[in-house]
Amino acid sequence: MNIHIRKTTSSNIGAVDFSNLTFGENFSDHQFQINYRNGQWESPEIIPYDLTPMYPAMTTLHYGQAVFEGMKAFTYSSGKINIFRLDSHFERFNRSCKRVCIPEIPKNVFEQGLIHLVNLERAWVPQEKYKSLYLRPFVYATDETLGLRASTSYRFHILCSPVGNFYSEGIKPIRLTTMPEYVRAVSGGVGDVKVPGNYAASLQPTTKAQQMGYTQVLWLDAIEKKYVEEVGSMNIFFLIDDTLITPPINGSILPGITRMSVLELARKHKMNVEERPVAIDELIKAHENGKLKEIFGSGTAAVISPVGHIHHQGKEITLPQKEMGPVARWFYDRITGIQHGDHPDDENWCTIL
Ligand code: COI
Repeated sequence: MNIHIRKTTSSNIGAVDFSNLTFGENFSDHQFQINYRNGQWESPEIIPYDLTPMYPAMTTLHYGQAVFEGMKAFTYSSGKINIFRLDSHFERFNRSCKRVCIPEIPKNVFEQGLIHLVNLERAWVPQEKYKSLYLRPFVYATDETLGLRASTSYRFHILCSPVGNFYSEGIKPIRLTTMPEYVRAVSGGVGDVKVPGNYAASLQPTTKAQQMGYTQVLWLDAIEKKYVEEVGSMNIFFLIDDTLITPPINGSILPGITRMSVLELARKHKMNVEERPVAIDELIKAHENGKLKEIFGSGTAAVISPVGHIHHQGKEITLPQKEMGPVARWFYDRITGIQHGDHPDDENWCTIL
């Protein structure tokens, strides 16, 4: 694939404090871009990161026909660069596209776009462990219309953003609350694909949760308001006695790539694993009986994030650990070890540049 490259004449890298990276506030010098028109993807290009032209009537702005992914590239101590789980992110991207009538992105466009862009932006991949270059492939409808129909034109971009921890708590346990008066998603809707509206819908309840002193909302199922689903920015795991339990992919939960990595590693290492509905009352009881040992979330941005506290309708689960529990720590170390090349990539998760 021939990618036309137009380089910036003035890099912004000197303006970024790599020792103090927050999440998603800095962007590298270049972006990948390709348009879809008249039934086909046109010529791909890498251009300076800049304003992008759009009409105010661009249909995405009105009806939200768009999809995104969150991926990461890491540096190995050898200087090589690794794009983590490219194939799984590609598959999920196109599954999301299908759900909102966006034409699939060809594999070579997605893959070569990422490889060429990350290669050009090598200097932007943080050197320090636990930091990474967050990659944001996304696609949106560009027809100029207020008509409610699938667009006939689209634009796909990839952006790069050097990042540190997703939560301001770092890797200290975060606090969650349920919000049974709101729901995130229902089976048959779009909760199992990565579309922007899922995140927009979470903002009001999350703001309320934050005003009450919690970091995020722990979403319950939309029908019975009884079963735990996910956290919106991550999937959720519970260690009850010695069994690792996570809610099943049921049509309303996002099938997380890090969730999949945790499950694959857990099964490989013969841990007791269950993917099954987890009632919030079961968790409260397990906590009262001293059986709930650890809670942690998994996500590309969040990696493995310990949860120290869950509030549900006046009841509290508070775990004693002030740090990550040993099981969460094992997954954190193993996954970040593979990402940074300190542990062999036995699973074939890494695309090395
Ligand atoms: C990710 O984990 O990459 C996501 O897309 C979640 C987003 C809230 C940052």
